[in-house]
Amino acid sequence: MRKLLIGGNWKMYKGVEETIKFANLFKEKKVSTEGVDVFLAPPFTSLVDAVRIFKGSGISVGAQNLFWEDEGAYTGEVSSVFLKEIGVDWVIIGHSERRTYFGETNAGVKKKVEKALQKQLKVVICVGETEEEREEGKAKEVVDKQIEEGLLGIEYDAENLAVAYEPVWAIGTGKTPHPEDAEEMHSIIREKLGAKGESIRIMYGGSVKTHNIKDFICQENIDGALIGGASLDVDGFSDMINIAKEIKC
Ligand code: PGA
Repeated sequence: MRKLLIGGNWKMYKGVEETIKFANLFKEKKVSTEGVDVFLAPPFTSLVDAVRIFKGSGISVGAQNLFWEDEGAYTGEVSSVFLKEIGVDWVIIGHSERRTYFGETNAGVKKKVEKALQKQLKVVICVGETEEEREEGKAKEVVDKQIEEGLLGIEYDAENLAVAYEPVWAIGTGKTPHPEDAEEMHSIIREKLGAKGESIRIMYGGSVKTHNIKDFICQENIDGALIGGASLDVDGFSDMINIAKEIKC
């Protein structure tokens, strides 16, 4: 049995003040996360406070990116060493917004995943096809290539790595694939991972909300959710943790 993994990707939302407010409200709600793994990934500037304030709440803290070198003349970048130093547990790598707006490639993603694992950070590697690629019937090929070039050959296990399948056209749009179509892609990804595949958690991401999370995580090969917009609301995020925790399919 794979333990469900629920992650919140705050993207470029919530500075320090709002991060602290969210954490305090979450703690007041006394939501138990027993039985599920939960993390939230706020922006870099909120990380130090997030690590401090979420401590003991059942929510781990993740970063949304890192650079593959430990230090150096790389203006604007943040290394795995610095993330580790402040107590960050998770890092999201290869999100489609990074690929689209910041030119990230599969080769770069691989270097980042490798470095993060080396520094004992837990990784969520994101894959997913664009609308155009789907329409051209290339979705499986694209995802296959992202896994092949971004991950295969690296040493990882179920403790330190999860995959997030996020069809780009479903991110922030309110559109979602049919859960059974997502399930099909998840099982293809699992197969692609080979012998380790059975234990690795594969999350679904893209317009996950309180009203649809159950439909996704009830699929056999969907082991959690990576939630963007809906993770910004403390009540909604708490509800989704509760749904995951109490799920009966
Ligand atoms: P969304 O984002 O839930 O707002 O669609 C998901 C993500 O980008 O990880």
